[in-house]
Amino acid sequence: MPAMAHAHTASLDTICIHGGQHPDPSTGAVMPPVSLATTYVQSTPGVHRGFEYTRSHNPTRYAWERLAARLEGSEIDESADPSCGGFAFSSGLAAVATALELLDSGDHVIAMDDLYGGTYRLLTRVRERSQGLKVTYLDMTDPARIERAITDRTRMIWVETPTNPTLKLVDLASVARIAGPRKILTVCDNTFATPMLQRPLTMGFDIVMHSTTKYLAGHSDALGGLLVTGRTDLATRIRFLQNAIGSVQGPLDAYLTLRGAKTLALRMERHCASAARIARWLDAHEAVARVVYPGLPSHPQHALAQRQMRLRGTPVGGGMITIHLRGDISTARRFLERVRIFALAESLGGVESLIEHPAIMTHASLPPETRAALGIDDTLVRLSIGIEDPDDLQADLAQALAGL
Ligand SMILES: Cc1ncc(COP(=O)(O)O)c(C=O)c1O
Repeated sequence: MPAMAHAHTASLDTICIHGGQHPDPSTGAVMPPVSLATTYVQSTPGVHRGFEYTRSHNPTRYAWERLAARLEGSEIDESADPSCGGFAFSSGLAAVATALELLDSGDHVIAMDDLYGGTYRLLTRVRERSQGLKVTYLDMTDPARIERAITDRTRMIWVETPTNPTLKLVDLASVARIAGPRKILTVCDNTFATPMLQRPLTMGFDIVMHSTTKYLAGHSDALGGLLVTGRTDLATRIRFLQNAIGSVQGPLDAYLTLRGAKTLALRMERHCASAARIARWLDAHEAVARVVYPGLPSHPQHALAQRQMRLRGTPVGGGMITIHLRGDISTARRFLERVRIFALAESLGGVESLIEHPAIMTHASLPPETRAALGIDDTLVRLSIGIEDPDDLQADLAQALAGL
């Protein structure tokens, strides 16, 4: 299994397996060992084999970081950066927190109005206070609004697409065109789409962020975050911050994430196919008032979804579905208590199907008036479609919706 010198030209299905990977130099093992040692021997003070202390250098973490870098389209060579511009963190929020350290106190950030609740909480309740960041929350479905919000202190634009849980999209190429000439850093949280569906770096973004806890690891058993950049100057700065802050992913979680990511292509194919089918079926169900799914023509940004979210060149809508039930909060509660295959649980992107109530669960940290403005009401339910047989998933939803 030779190292792939030109992995970025291989198909993503192949990159999932081989991107940035080499056999273990000491044994030839095709998967890296889980390297738990915290320190490495030196032959004379200051002379080591590239590994000094595990916070700064860890071979298992590097193996995952290199794969992640290639998946997101970073072309940084391993000789220029040991993890090719990929950086793994202890959680998605640790990745967000480290990316925000690229900014100086008092800088202005333009962020989506419909951010993951934890990112919003970090910005409003921590960094506005501790770092003096000024944040403008914006509906970016119309990129022209971004231009109007830019000030002379704007240093970062933070985008999520599709958003969580209302599945709004942002035209990534348009945002990059606005930010690029002004030297404003662009960051895209690509957790929902994954690089199988969209690669923001190839559309002009500076940094991609993930909660790898979701689709990249894919098995609901490893917490992690990720930043990837294709710019060597940013890779140097993020490497410094990752070590200086110490927000690194541990080797066992890095190993599990690497292992999970190898099947990302196959999993995303099934997630997307099953979600498309279930979204159509829910759309016709009398107990459902509205289905929000980028793959449905009724989605307000369906045309953009078709252009921007593609699996092997074919437009797809992703694996997440949001529905508004007819009824009220007690209807939603009854529905959520009745599902049997879907697990009523936070998180998403695992092999098992999950279902949740954002207003009570994942997005409880948003103030009620913000939730109302975003349309996260009491009948809104979010589904993460797993890779079980879609017939079984549909039957489970049918029995839970019957006679609500
Ligand atoms: C879109 C998105 N970004 C960031 C995060 C935070 O990641 P973590 O839970 O791994 O810290 C999440 C978690 O749900 C998420 O869904």
